[in-house]
Amino acid sequence: MDIPDETLQVVEGDTRLLVPKRSITDVAPPKRPAFFNPKAQVNRDLSIIAYAAFLDKFDGPKIFLDGLSGIGARGLRVANELKVDKTVINDLNPVALRMAEYSANLNGLKNIEFSEKEACEFFSSCSKKGRRGSIVDIDPFGSPAAFFDCGIRATIHGGILSTAATDLQVLNGLFDDACKRRYGGVPVRTKYGAEIAIRLILGSLRAVAARLGVEIVPMFVESYMHYYRTYVKVRNRPDQQENLGYILHCKNCGHRKITLEHQCRCELCESKASLAGPLWIGKIFDKEFVQDMLTQSSRLTVEKTCEKILCKSLAESEMPGTYFTIDEVASMTRSSPPKLEKAVSGLQGNGFTASVTAFDPTGFRTDANINEIASVFKTIH
Ligand SMILES: C[S@@+](CC[C@H](N)C(=O)[O-])C[C@H]1O[C@@H](n2cnc3c(N)ncnc32)[C@H](O)[C@@H]1O
Ligand SMILES: [Zn+2]
Repeated sequence: MDIPDETLQVVEGDTRLLVPKRSITDVAPPKRPAFFNPKAQVNRDLSIIAYAAFLDKFDGPKIFLDGLSGIGARGLRVANELKVDKTVINDLNPVALRMAEYSANLNGLKNIEFSEKEACEFFSSCSKKGRRGSIVDIDPFGSPAAFFDCGIRATIHGGILSTAATDLQVLNGLFDDACKRRYGGVPVRTKYGAEIAIRLILGSLRAVAARLGVEIVPMFVESYMHYYRTYVKVRNRPDQQENLGYILHCKNCGHRKITLEHQCRCELCESKASLAGPLWIGKIFDKEFVQDMLTQSSRLTVEKTCEKILCKSLAESEMPGTYFTIDEVASMTRSSPPKLEKAVSGLQGNGFTASVTAFDPTGFRTDANINEIASVFKTIH
């Protein structure tokens, strides 16, 4: 199999990548001859940072399994920019693999293997003790749900499993039936849809993990542009906590609540509320891990945006689930929206916890309910 004629070399992070020319020149990168999305650089930068934070404190074999690699951008960067013992780059597309091999040579990489298998077959071939990855990535077109089972099995005890989802319409409430089939729960269309989507993905991962007798612990999640990414630790022990539940959302007054029970009545205005779920209701960030990521980001060649995302993630890491946006509250109270910083400090000044969120530039988290937020907003202008 030859390399396609129309190729270019680009540098991402510290790594040289051979990519199809049209992936740079076309508005949407084509799947053929091989897939590479230059706009996903921040997504890959954050992976490199997360994996660096993980590897720094991990004692076992350092093996990265890139199950759906495309031209190998993520795997090549891991092999070149991080200290790993071995990287395995797998994809169904042989052209993508030849390009990845070419790039591996460009970077003088030795600790790298290539595999041309269907992803489930690949992960299954790595599911035996001794063959598992300490970092496993699932990055398909669309939904990652079909690979949760084999991806979890291919992850070592204490390892990191990262997943990406780009089936945004399904996760954001356009096709509830499809969402229930894929992820086992349904969303509600809200301003904080990105968080509901990520919690649906985590909920589905948790359900599969529980079936396999292991637990997942979310370390970091992110949504930047058109995808949702989750990073969870996989541990070989049954989940002891009840982490599946619902988000109750009242479309009448804007109240929302994370709950274990299937309850439908808004406790503030008594209206019938909507329910998203079953979904993950536990923590979505590990504060220490996000702090470690921030430390690592200053040592790596990554986009400046990453640091901003991580600072916000750190601020919100121990805050309540779901966020509000200043526009949402202002339209409910029929007033002009305050500046975000003023909203956050105003809430804090009134004795509530409050922080920004990386999910939305106008979003904030707080333990104040919608009525309390509205009262505080009135005092801000
Ligand atoms: C979104 S791209 C991967 C992008 C890559 N991870 C990156 O960071 O640049 C998805 C890739 O999955 C491959 N693929 C799709 N279905 C697959 C399957 N069932 N098994 C293996 N590879 C598959 C496609 O050939 C494509 O290269
Ligand atoms: Zn209500």
